[in-house]
Amino acid sequence: QETSTDVFYTITTQSGTTAFKDGSLTETYGYNGSYLGPIIRIHKGQNVHLTTINKLKENTSFHWHGLKIPSNVDGGPHSPIKPNGTATVDFTVMQEAATLWFHPHPEGRTGEQVYNGLAGLIYVEDENSDSLDLPKDYGMNDFPIIVQDRFFDEDNQFNYQDIRNVDGTQGDTLLVNGTINPYIEVKNEQIRLRLVNGSNARNYQFNLSSKEKFYQIASDGGFLNEPVQMDTLQLVPGERAEIVVDLSDYKNGTIVQLMDGNAEVLSIKVVEEINSEVGSLPKTLNAISNDFDKVSVPDKKITFSGMGNMVAINGKQFDMDRMDLQAKTGTTEIWEINNLNDMMGGMIHPFHLHGVQFKVLDRNGKITPANEQGWKDTIALYPGEKVQIEVEFSKKGIFMYHCHILEHEDNGMMGQIIVE
Ligand code: C2O
Ligand code: CU
Ligand code: CU
Repeated sequence: QETSTDVFYTITTQSGTTAFKDGSLTETYGYNGSYLGPIIRIHKGQNVHLTTINKLKENTSFHWHGLKIPSNVDGGPHSPIKPNGTATVDFTVMQEAATLWFHPHPEGRTGEQVYNGLAGLIYVEDENSDSLDLPKDYGMNDFPIIVQDRFFDEDNQFNYQDIRNVDGTQGDTLLVNGTINPYIEVKNEQIRLRLVNGSNARNYQFNLSSKEKFYQIASDGGFLNEPVQMDTLQLVPGERAEIVVDLSDYKNGTIVQLMDGNAEVLSIKVVEEINSEVGSLPKTLNAISNDFDKVSVPDKKITFSGMGNMVAINGKQFDMDRMDLQAKTGTTEIWEINNLNDMMGGMIHPFHLHGVQFKVLDRNGKITPANEQGWKDTIALYPGEKVQIEVEFSKKGIFMYHCHILEHEDNGMMGQIIVE
């Protein structure tokens, strides 16, 4: 056994207290700390050994969102860990470089546990990401940006049960990496932001206060084939994107805001001027084939409907004892995902599928937006939308698909597929 290809992490859920606002402490959850968690850094080809420990007073599970691993280590609701329980997770990284994340997935309790702070990141690297000429100095020009919204009561406390909303709990205060009014200090060079929508329910429309364009370089499951110039980027809960912002024209002292619509998310402060060359990014980042076979009869149809406690997929609510769909490993399928626009104008549901990275073939019969022409595990479904995706499972077992509005998931907007 070659130890150089093995990587070990211990991840422990714990409860604690965190001061977000005016120094007041509120009770929170975290992985290896009191809020959020570490970055698990893994490389394609490595054998990963995770020891997971639950120090909470309630069941949890450890779900690795975006990893293509067998279902017995995927950490869905089938794999609860009791208080003081522990489990080991062993797998080999068989997928390309990407920014993934992890969070709990216990049946009916995901919304509250994530809200209280359980979320961490997984950086997968590979030979391509090692060699690409992109910003990659952690904390210097390459930053994790986990965006969440929280509501603080008059005592500056989290109070999930009081503010829980069946259609998705939203707060009035934005946090980045657990911080209110966050800023980063950088040189006037290209910087890379690994954006993660870690919110229970809020959709973000990211843009820059300078109204300058930025480049999206990666979607959920890896690099796009080429950088895509954008002025606004939407991320729904569970989605990730990596963007590069070019600050080389800016003087020392300049502040650029990352915005959500008109709200400030993050201040980017230029604090050092260097002679950086203006904006060149690699022209080619990846080689994903996009020659799809258009089919008129999809292999599977998945229909999201309802709101509140009436949410359903294909007319049913989650039942752990019922298999909803079946598939075979190594078989490419076309799935049609519908958001049945049936109540009060409807709402956006983020569709997420475990165990794979899929491709978006079209949206409503129209060509997939350039920044979605890459590997995806979570996509926005607008009211009335019909999206075709191409799915191929490489691992056997039982995998979840669900709405990533966590209260919808907890209310049963989830199904399971058995892969043989
Ligand atoms: Cu990010 Cu089934 O979840
Ligand atoms: Cu997932
Ligand atoms: Cu939903």
